[in-house]
Amino acid sequence: MVRTSVSSLAMLGGPRSVDAATRQPWPIVGPPEREAVLGVLASGKFTSAASGETQIPALEQEWAARVGTRHCVAVANGTIALSISLAAAGVQAGDEVIVPALSFVGSALAVAHIGAIPVFVDIDPVTFNIDPGALSGALSGRTAAVMPVHLHGLPADMEEVSGFARGNGLAIVEDAAQSHGVRYRDRVTGSIGDCGAFSLNVSKNLPTCGEGGLITTDDDKQADKITRMRQFGEWIPRSGERPYLSGILGWNGKMSAVQAAFTRAQLTRFDEWQAGRERVVRRFLDRVTPLSCFVPPTALDDRGHGWHILRFRIRPAAFELPPDHAETLRVTVMRALRAEGVPVSRYQSVPLCDQPVFADEGTAHRVTDVGTTRQVLADSFVLQHVHLNPDAGPALDSIADAMAKLWEHRTLISRMAADRHRADGRHPSPTNRRDSQ
Ligand SMILES: Cc1ncc(COP(=O)(O)O)c(C=O)c1O
Repeated sequence: MVRTSVSSLAMLGGPRSVDAATRQPWPIVGPPEREAVLGVLASGKFTSAASGETQIPALEQEWAARVGTRHCVAVANGTIALSISLAAAGVQAGDEVIVPALSFVGSALAVAHIGAIPVFVDIDPVTFNIDPGALSGALSGRTAAVMPVHLHGLPADMEEVSGFARGNGLAIVEDAAQSHGVRYRDRVTGSIGDCGAFSLNVSKNLPTCGEGGLITTDDDKQADKITRMRQFGEWIPRSGERPYLSGILGWNGKMSAVQAAFTRAQLTRFDEWQAGRERVVRRFLDRVTPLSCFVPPTALDDRGHGWHILRFRIRPAAFELPPDHAETLRVTVMRALRAEGVPVSRYQSVPLCDQPVFADEGTAHRVTDVGTTRQVLADSFVLQHVHLNPDAGPALDSIADAMAKLWEHRTLISRMAADRHRADGRHPSPTNRRDSQ
């Protein structure tokens, strides 16, 4: 396909910028993963409860060493990792937990599932992470913990979050579901709070072939509690007979050995793949940054970035549109990019407080001003999955071509957005309509 920057938009019949054949799969499943999984099937030991099972403890040791914590406990998924971490950190029913309003719903459900109350606070407009300035406004006599989420792979402002939490006697549970192995100053995410909770969902930078989670902690007592909580609250002796006694309120949150073996195989290439991702994403961002219509994701000097999700804000001013056109402009840009073959999506259409489970179903929660979260959701779109494979360079090149093409046709895009805005007959403040994309 010949790509010229002056060709017309695909949504108007021009050539598509992105050839679907350039897409590379994620996760990468090769001989190491197949061998690892077959090895488990041959062993006949399938869960952490199976005597002599080796894959799960090996994964726990390897991940603890990488994060730099004394302990790691493998569990069934990232959501249960968060619930168990909160419970092990002492959060009880009726306590409040401060959660950023922009995250995957699992962050908030994990709080609600232990009977605690998520208190949603705003995000920073540049990092998309919890706004440290919003924390004190969320504090109440019932606040027990803060859950910073290292969203999209960029670590949250942990110095400020930790200072606030320590100053107010709160626990910190890091939601590190999207930030595997990412540096924050001289630490790694998951080693800064009381516990770090990771997801190994198949879409993550460190995936398994399905669902899985890891909890990291330095605290011996908490590690012991977490280990019991993942297995019905039981105390499991290292050897000898299982007493079948449940001493604390636990879950069945055990990981399967197949999941552990698959992730261990991924771990052997994790650094190489992350370095490859860093290269192709940086190159892509170098191409997209000069297009002044998009604000690319931010990297900061004192921390790494896992580049798990790439979020772009759209500048209405670059399209000579007023700020109140942000949402219709975003819808128009997404349509145009999709027509070019770019797999854009929103990754969250509403702040967590507007999720029907909270807003409509009455699940207990509290909300502070989340205006920035609304604004960011109105004017941004994301790329997910397409850039995770370290060989994503050609696909990202063609996505950059598509974005450049849009920029060249900005007058047209602007007119379409303005027409849509008029037709919608909607009014200034950007809202996040669930049906908007
Ligand atoms: C930020 C965040 N928190 C929590 C979760 C929940 O993880 P899981 O899907 O493994 O339950 C996810 C992943 O989906 C996530 O991205």
